[in-house]
Amino acid sequence: MDLVLPAVETGVSDARLLEVYGRPPGVWLRANFVASLDGAATSEGLSAGLQPPGDGRVFELLRRLADVVLVGAGTVASEGYTALRVDDASVAWRRERGMPEHPVFAIASRRLDLDPGSPIFADAPVRPIVVTTGESAEDRRGRLAAVADVLVAGEAEFDAQRMRAGLAERGLTQILCEGGPSFFGSLIEAGVLDELCLTVAPRLLSGGAQRIAHASAARPTPMHLEHVLREGDALFLCYRRER
Ligand SMILES: NC(=O)c1ccc[n+]([C@@H]2O[C@H](COP(=O)([O-])OP(=O)(O)OC[C@H]3O[C@@H](n4cnc5c(N)ncnc54)[C@H](OP(=O)(O)O)[C@@H]3O)[C@@H](O)[C@H]2O)c1
Repeated sequence: MDLVLPAVETGVSDARLLEVYGRPPGVWLRANFVASLDGAATSEGLSAGLQPPGDGRVFELLRRLADVVLVGAGTVASEGYTALRVDDASVAWRRERGMPEHPVFAIASRRLDLDPGSPIFADAPVRPIVVTTGESAEDRRGRLAAVADVLVAGEAEFDAQRMRAGLAERGLTQILCEGGPSFFGSLIEAGVLDELCLTVAPRLLSGGAQRIAHASAARPTPMHLEHVLREGDALFLCYRRER
């Protein structure tokens, strides 16, 4: 993998990639997505079908840098997430820096149709967090509270600012969102996103696939190009919000 911007560097090491992405100061909400050249977020219903070589490496390194990995319940179900664990190299890297071995897994859901007995909770190396609203069913919330921390962010409406603050209060300041489009749309709508890491897969798809974000209202958000990496014909773009 080569760095293309801000300066050309060929064959960048993991250590260099970690430096390039970094853990920006303060509370930081980073999202990581992959899209085809024509903007599709899925191929045959999954993002996995889009991932070019190099994407798995960036995906893992971004997890390595994170305190918490935040995912919408739709993606958790469709992509078949299990307990969230980083690989051995990431564990070692995190241990050396006094960080917990694994990031916390946080799942966003209003309906809370999540099985407390699933491996997501049963095999979790760290107690997960369920992010929901005050209107979620109390019995479901109670059952999940036995296996996860429940973070209520907003009453009738999801309040992304409260979610961000609630994670930060737990010391989880480096927040990595891995999707999906509905949940990401609500983060853009609320203006809480700091960074988008976008893998551009060198394929055209057409068809009816959705984009990486959708919400009821548009929220134009100017972004600044921070860096560009390249592996083969795939680009790894990092855009940060203009402040
Ligand atoms: N290209 C990529 O990088 C990428 C990344 C991730 C996912 N994907 C793809 O995207 C598809 C899934 O996307 P999706 O939009 O259906 O699912 P999603 O955004 O992952 O999850 C939607 C669900 O998350 C919960 N949710 C969403 N917004 C919320 C909010 N503001 N507050 C609380 N909970 C909230 C709701 O759960 P409840 O229904 O439980 O209330 C909602 O049904 C899959 O095909 C997946 O493969 C692609």
